[in-house]
Amino acid sequence: MNLNEPSLNTLGLKLPEAPSLRVPKALGEKAIRLLRKLNLSNRELGIQHVEDYLCIPLLSEPLPEDIKEMERSIPEFEISAHKFSQRAKRPLKLVDILGDKLPPHLLASVPHAIDFVGDIAIIEIPPELESHKETIGEAVMKTHKRVGTVLAKSSAVEGVYRLREFEVIAGVEKTETVHREHGCVYHVDLSKAYFSPRLSHEHDRVASLVREGEMVVDMFAGVGSFSILIAKKRENVRVHAIDVNPDAVDFLRRNVAVNRVEKKVVSILGDARRVVRERLVKMADRVIMNLPERAIEYVDVACEAIKPEGGIMHYYEFTSAPNPLETAKVRLIEAMKRTNRKVKQVLLARTVRATAPFTWQVVVDAEIQ
Ligand SMILES: C[S@@+](CC[C@H](N)C(=O)[O-])C[C@H]1O[C@@H](n2cnc3c(N)ncnc32)[C@H](O)[C@@H]1O
Repeated sequence: MNLNEPSLNTLGLKLPEAPSLRVPKALGEKAIRLLRKLNLSNRELGIQHVEDYLCIPLLSEPLPEDIKEMERSIPEFEISAHKFSQRAKRPLKLVDILGDKLPPHLLASVPHAIDFVGDIAIIEIPPELESHKETIGEAVMKTHKRVGTVLAKSSAVEGVYRLREFEVIAGVEKTETVHREHGCVYHVDLSKAYFSPRLSHEHDRVASLVREGEMVVDMFAGVGSFSILIAKKRENVRVHAIDVNPDAVDFLRRNVAVNRVEKKVVSILGDARRVVRERLVKMADRVIMNLPERAIEYVDVACEAIKPEGGIMHYYEFTSAPNPLETAKVRLIEAMKRTNRKVKQVLLARTVRATAPFTWQVVVDAEIQ
């Protein structure tokens, strides 16, 4: 680049001029390290490539002792002035804000994982940061401008309804929100019905496998994340969405209406075993069993739901076994021995997500005959 060229960026704005260290590209890394050591590197401006050279922006003209240090470690360099473009600002991270608010030894414990459900952020505060949770909550709101509430997990996911307790640590006191996933809208109250944004890919994967004309039984439907997406994706499907939690079914019904899939999704409150036996025997082309901690107990009734000519089962479980996929397949095949059906073939076994160190949620898709 010629310094006399008009120095405008693509928006036609004048570029700032700054002192520059010009080095052959091969010496670039060494030069950058040295400039950091000398506290001379200007990180607001972007490094320029000029033919076989790099022009590295400096904070100020180097002092004579800086030049001496450069002469000692960089065989070829030149100090001049150069036009640089402004570097794109990287998004603020939690630790950027918390850097001067938390004791330094606690910074490494600041959680990296944040889940977003609608305008709610969910975070797990480790015990050593308990007394700083409000500060962390405020920092989450500063780094994520669309977040209106920050919840800290205050229990594990527990009970028949698979719920956990939360504490509001910043923002509006609420647990209810509206979440958007794959073009569907879900009203959910996280303290009353199960919902995890970490299953988003799995919801889409299963929904994409459903073919026109299928009858699907979603045995543990929650607020409808499999059922509604299936109904949205296909013209001609019927989904029976069952859940035992009355609050989950209230949200499910509301979501069915909001997403305008009333003609395709039947929402049913009740225990999946009882509901299948009362009204869905031998009717399903596909059964979804997303209750990983107890799905094994319902394999028999899932088989009763599947049509006599066969169908597909999506079986979920949690496992911490060394070979999680093989273990899940074997457990399903063993459970099938207690029914009058058989696994014709395992179509797929995959890890859905890690749920704890060395514990995974896995899914087995099986063709049942
Ligand atoms: C892990 S959640 C899955 C929710 C949903 N399928 C999803 O992917 O977000 C399991 C759901 O099963 C429901 N459940 C538990 N036992 C049940 C049963 N025996 N019959 C029907 N639903 C049940 C719980 O209330 C909970 O909403």
